[in-house]
Amino acid sequence: MTNNKTYDFLIVGSGLAGLFAAYQAAKYGSVLIVSKIKENKINSWLAQGGIAVAMGEGDSIGSHVEDTLKTGRGICNKEAVKVLVEEGIECVQELIDTGMKFDKKNGKYNFGLEGGHSKRRVIHAHGSSTGEAVTRFLYDKVKEIANITFLHHTQVLDLISTKDEVAGINTLDMESGEVNSFYSRNTILATGGYNNIYLRNTNPNAAVGEGISMALSAGAEIRDMEFTQFHPTAFYSESGTIFLISEAVRGEGAYLINSKGERFMSNYHEMEELAPRDVVAKAIFEEIKKSDKKFIYLDARHLGETSIKDNFSNIYNFALAEGIDMTSELIPIAPAAHYSVGGIKTDLFGATSVGRLFAIGEVASTGVHGANRLASNSLLECLVFGRRAAVKASENIGSEINIPESDLIQYKVSDFSMQHYNITLHKLQRIFTEKVGIIRNEDDLNDALTEIEILSEQLPAMSSDSFFRKERDLLNLAESIVRSALYRKESRGAHQRSDHPDLSSKFYGHVVLINSSIKFEKID
Ligand code: SIN
Repeated sequence: MTNNKTYDFLIVGSGLAGLFAAYQAAKYGSVLIVSKIKENKINSWLAQGGIAVAMGEGDSIGSHVEDTLKTGRGICNKEAVKVLVEEGIECVQELIDTGMKFDKKNGKYNFGLEGGHSKRRVIHAHGSSTGEAVTRFLYDKVKEIANITFLHHTQVLDLISTKDEVAGINTLDMESGEVNSFYSRNTILATGGYNNIYLRNTNPNAAVGEGISMALSAGAEIRDMEFTQFHPTAFYSESGTIFLISEAVRGEGAYLINSKGERFMSNYHEMEELAPRDVVAKAIFEEIKKSDKKFIYLDARHLGETSIKDNFSNIYNFALAEGIDMTSELIPIAPAAHYSVGGIKTDLFGATSVGRLFAIGEVASTGVHGANRLASNSLLECLVFGRRAAVKASENIGSEINIPESDLIQYKVSDFSMQHYNITLHKLQRIFTEKVGIIRNEDDLNDALTEIEILSEQLPAMSSDSFFRKERDLLNLAESIVRSALYRKESRGAHQRSDHPDLSSKFYGHVVLINSSIKFEKID
């Protein structure tokens, strides 16, 4: 099915950022959404808490900006944060005006509290199923729009690059095995993060940083890759079952309890269980290290059965299926890799350093999160920068693009190369879990780099199969994370080094990678 139509917008990924961008872009031109996922189960669906938005009584733009900057540990892009918070209100209002129903109490929006927020400002839907509710709502809307075409179960193989522009993508139809090219005046990556590179993570299997690695191959700048955010409270079980226990549960008053049965967060931060995520994750890591177990506990029993079942029914049901009744029992938890703070460097409109290539949502580094994302700012970022990118990209409508000669003949994919990719991913998961965890050090990071280099040397000749190119991209992504973590010789936010435990003014800025070089951009 080689498709000769040139779309105005090609959006890769069908999470909240991709869907909201598509919804906006369709006001201007034709849109193709390409998604790897068959049943539309993406990262945004798994987001529980909600959307942080300064719409509640007693809240203000200034207060939300201040909490975001404080949590970002000094290196947020202040202008981007202002845009996020101000336009976030408009975007959430637009969702409401279009029919999205958020939870209310006594006729008013029922804002939740999460770590690092000084106010109750997290708007949610269906209790702690906000990601699923909002994404499903937008998915249904987008499916009805005539100039949007949806292509599911389609794997992007690479970006079609011409000189310093991107002209589209090459894809693999996961059902028929067919390889195709799609062209567009604007390619918008909304592919999510990379945390499935860790064994214990809260992401779907698809989250392997494909957007970042493809953009890197196309010559785009990537930034802040050392900041991998660990969620403090993911369910722990010996069998490996893992699911998120939303910060909102702590927001309603749940406590953390160590293996001695003691609360401990007051030893680490004045905000206790509601300290920013980097602090809580590190504190839990320290408490686990002091014990002979691999987990500690979250105690939600005192919240009461009605409140738990009303507000957190999905979490209650997940835990019950694992044999834990959270209304009467402690929940075993441990941190898990959760969110890629860094990504493809963009401007305030989602534009990358490569022509006609945009990045939105978790795959992007807009600068709003600094070194540590404030809870529930991620869905807000998807909306605000999804909309901005669509509006900016609409300026390219009508322009001529340079479509290169098709070279699909060299694109073949075998079961062998796919298996090879999966084996390498599994090896990377072990390397990252052992050597690039919550607390890093130079020796472990160097070991990780050596192991990645060995995997790269073992990669079969790329020309023979396009999935080997994907594997090379994955290894490049892994290398970029480790090299960035080695570069930043300090502890800041989601990047903690046992050999450099303090903040350093030398690292007041960003680690940026382009092709194979690395540079530091200081903030003035
Ligand atoms: C949560 O509900 O704790 C996760 C939401 C987020 O990552 O901001």
